Amino acid sequence: MNALAIMSVGFEMLDAVAEVEGISMSSASFKALIGKGFIGDVPVMLAKPQTFMNASGESVGAIVSYYKIPLKQVLVIFDDLDLPFAKLRMLPKGGHGGHNGMRSIIDHLKGSRDFPRLRIGIGRPPGKMDAANFVMRPFNKQEREELDFTMQVGVDAIRILLLEGFNKSATFVNTNKPLEQIG
Ligand SMILES: *[C@@H]1O[C@H](CO)[C@@H](O)[C@H](O)[C@H]1NC(C)=O
Ligand SMILES: *[C@@H]1O[C@H](CO)[C@@H](O)[C@H](O)[C@H]1NC(C)=O
Repeated sequence: MNALAIMSVGFEMLDAVAEVEGISMSSASFKALIGKGFIGDVPVMLAKPQTFMNASGESVGAIVSYYKIPLKQVLVIFDDLDLPFAKLRMLPKGGHGGHNGMRSIIDHLKGSRDFPRLRIGIGRPPGKMDAANFVMRPFNKQEREELDFTMQVGVDAIRILLLEGFNKSATFVNTNKPLEQIG
């Protein structure tokens, strides 16, 4: 079983996966909205923690320990201020990079950082704008188009991750061209 946990544009990515793969986010447990289904023939569990973002680990930690999910089979999807807007990065492990949700997840996985993550770039807020407001702001038309494209790439990447393995997916994501270089 694979768990995908998430926040904000992360939630949007997870909703896109659920829709494309026909998985209904129909139950609530472990302080999360949960959807169970299959991607290809791989059983998958999608989770959107309903805790405060900075307490996401309470949900992720509980799911991982209850189902005894190997950490290599967990994918955490989250927004990242350090990546340019709409850019994706798939990494096999890493630190929290100052992200309070990731900090909480690592804490609740007993300090382990060895789980894959898909980072979705949102860029840096302009001037003195608060990061939390920036993450949740409405997107303009061009940003919306870029993000829609990013969501499609992410859905494909998750399918590749489950069916062909981490390395194939990482290569697909990390060498993917952003929308403006294609159109
Ligand atoms: C977590 O976030 C909530 C809401 O933003 C805040 O009220 C709370 O103080 C934060 N908790 C910690 C431990 O930072
Ligand atoms: C994935 O890539 C890593 C680093 O390049 C390599 O060490 C590892 O053997 C690869 N795994 C598979 C299953 O190909």
